[in-house]
Amino acid sequence: MYKEFDKRVDEILAKLTLKQKIGQLNQIQQPLNVEQAELVKKWIKEGLVGSIIQAGTSTAGNDGQDGVRVDEFNEFQRIAVEESDSGIPLIFGRDVIHGHHTVMPIPLAGAAAFNPEITEKAYRCVAKEAAADNIHWTFSPMMDICTDPRWGRMVEGVGEDPYLASRVAEATIKGFQGDDLSDENSLAACAKHYLGYGFSEGGRDYHRTEISDYTLYNKVLPPFRASVAAGVATVMSSFNDINGQPVTSSKKYLTDILRGKLGFEGFVVTDWATVSRLVNQGVCENVRDSAKAAINAGVDMDMVSKTFMNELESLVLSGEVSEDIIDEAVRRVLRIKIAKGLFERPYCAEREIDMQEHIAVSREFAAESMVLLKNNGVLPLKNEGTVALAGPMLRAKRELLGTWVLDGKADIAPSFLEAFSSVAGENIKIITDKGSTVLDDSLAPFYNSDVIVLALGESHEVTGEARSVADISISKSQVELAKWAKSLGKKTVGVLFCGRPLALSEIEPYLDGILCAWHCGTETATAAAEILFGDRVPCGKTPVTFPRCTGQIPIYYNSTVAITGVCSYYGQAAERSYCDMLGTPLYPFGFGLSYTKFNISAISCNKTEIPLADIKNGESFVFSVDVANVGEFDGKETVQLYIHDKISSIMRPVRELKGFKKVLIKKGETANIEFNIGKTHLGFYGNNGEYLLEKGEFDIFVGGNCLTNNKITVKVI
Ligand code: BGC
Repeated sequence: MYKEFDKRVDEILAKLTLKQKIGQLNQIQQPLNVEQAELVKKWIKEGLVGSIIQAGTSTAGNDGQDGVRVDEFNEFQRIAVEESDSGIPLIFGRDVIHGHHTVMPIPLAGAAAFNPEITEKAYRCVAKEAAADNIHWTFSPMMDICTDPRWGRMVEGVGEDPYLASRVAEATIKGFQGDDLSDENSLAACAKHYLGYGFSEGGRDYHRTEISDYTLYNKVLPPFRASVAAGVATVMSSFNDINGQPVTSSKKYLTDILRGKLGFEGFVVTDWATVSRLVNQGVCENVRDSAKAAINAGVDMDMVSKTFMNELESLVLSGEVSEDIIDEAVRRVLRIKIAKGLFERPYCAEREIDMQEHIAVSREFAAESMVLLKNNGVLPLKNEGTVALAGPMLRAKRELLGTWVLDGKADIAPSFLEAFSSVAGENIKIITDKGSTVLDDSLAPFYNSDVIVLALGESHEVTGEARSVADISISKSQVELAKWAKSLGKKTVGVLFCGRPLALSEIEPYLDGILCAWHCGTETATAAAEILFGDRVPCGKTPVTFPRCTGQIPIYYNSTVAITGVCSYYGQAAERSYCDMLGTPLYPFGFGLSYTKFNISAISCNKTEIPLADIKNGESFVFSVDVANVGEFDGKETVQLYIHDKISSIMRPVRELKGFKKVLIKKGETANIEFNIGKTHLGFYGNNGEYLLEKGEFDIFVGGNCLTNNKITVKVI
């Protein structure tokens, strides 16, 4: 799709010197002081710079960052366009991960919404805000499938399922890039981290990975395939190695698979200084070798290591790198600069943004993302009586925004205490812990409450890049707090503000209700309070399994059977489990309660069998269910369809998500939901990456989470 610009690209390319071409492949870090700024201006004038990343440090997501500098970057652009010989505009990148000034839910929470429409709408708001601050390009979405919540970066991804991840990828890219990438409100997106970074061993960040081709093609690649099909402009090569091969020096991953099999036409940027780090990884002797390895593998732009800037020219002159390879990389960068409209509109003009509208979208997205994990009738709260509030997250603001928030404003995010008080209204008396974080006398008035609501969870500081944890259990002090609250004989609700599925088995028995509110951005607290009071009906479903304890990791729903048979799936057979812990998860993938109740009818299908040749020609099964809202509230249900390919040449997972629909159903009403399941759903990838469609029996499950037993069997003959 970006090749359509190649005529113009080639005209520009023909006029460039080798030095100017290499300049297009060089992304530098934003200057941190006046001297650096002068040097940057000189480089730009000489045509040595193609892009600037607006980040002050290598772990921008966790270090405080300077705000964006619109005027200074307009000046850099002026020098590039008006004073450099090539006149090619710069492309400015920044990590606009899940929000800019207005912050949306962390991506993991956003996936829990199971709602591509709100996802796209939210990322459109994010793009508008960031584009107005002279940002052209974001390093998002992150598409790393991950089954290890110890890894701090699970927060930035979409959980454990490739089908859901693919739908989220499409929606996020559509939101960022809009219908037209050249629109002044659009950002070029970047699918990252290509490839396999989410499999970092032991959840230790930047660690090695061991990924079979089977897992690679069936789990790790699909969201990248979907991103490319959705027109993502750029892809980031990841830090990690796969089976000993760093991705950044891998022709197999960057050229043969990404461009060959997936058809990617945009450009590949490395992760931070990843080219020079090939030396640390021990596959290159020096940075000259690493520049050669990376460009020959298929990297187009070197993020901040300046290795391309310093080494490529002499590598070409000595014949070690062909100029054709350089031309091809420049071509890809120019395609995106043209597609982004930078030649027509290089500068950022001041404009008004409707922040109120974005905050409203943020609240809606947050409410869609929150997952009600437990409710024994305590929720929604009654609009009367006395509610006691305590817990370490009660007054938190910055924490609720989540990690990777470079420009978000914590002061406009209400704390849970503030939001709860304002949503509660006058009928409710609120008493609080008065700021005490320990169990002391200040909590004595809690004896007089009707319900205790605890604001629990973890700080954003233990999530994100280089912030892994060895133990995902909720802290002991929070368990003690819940135990104490329960010992008063009060109904107790836990609201969890977190960036990963915490292990809750120790605290769960003391809580009558648990709302997983995640770190949902600016409107986290208000959305959570509105759900607690029933102003909104919870409708999120978890995109990741909640283990009972850290030792169960990895536990994920889309696994194959163990040798003992189907019932051993997901830890359900004792012999496949542990002696000291149940094998099942605390909450399975796709799980989430509502205040209302949905009955899903038996599945019907238009056919019992279809010949394989017809499936290959596009024929599909149409599965249908009726979903009745038989409860007391209007509410949304996410109806999920899973398949099990019962006999196949390679073992297939017992459940695989292949469709979902989120529908609002009024109380007393019934909705009919249909799913078309055909060739893109029934096949899988073999070890060489070939897509295989085979004859056989398929169990099809439709229900409200991955453990549904509502099933029908069809055949491909
Ligand atoms: C992270 C990337 C990020 C880049 C630029 C790296 O350390 O891994 O996700 O986009 O820095 O800030």
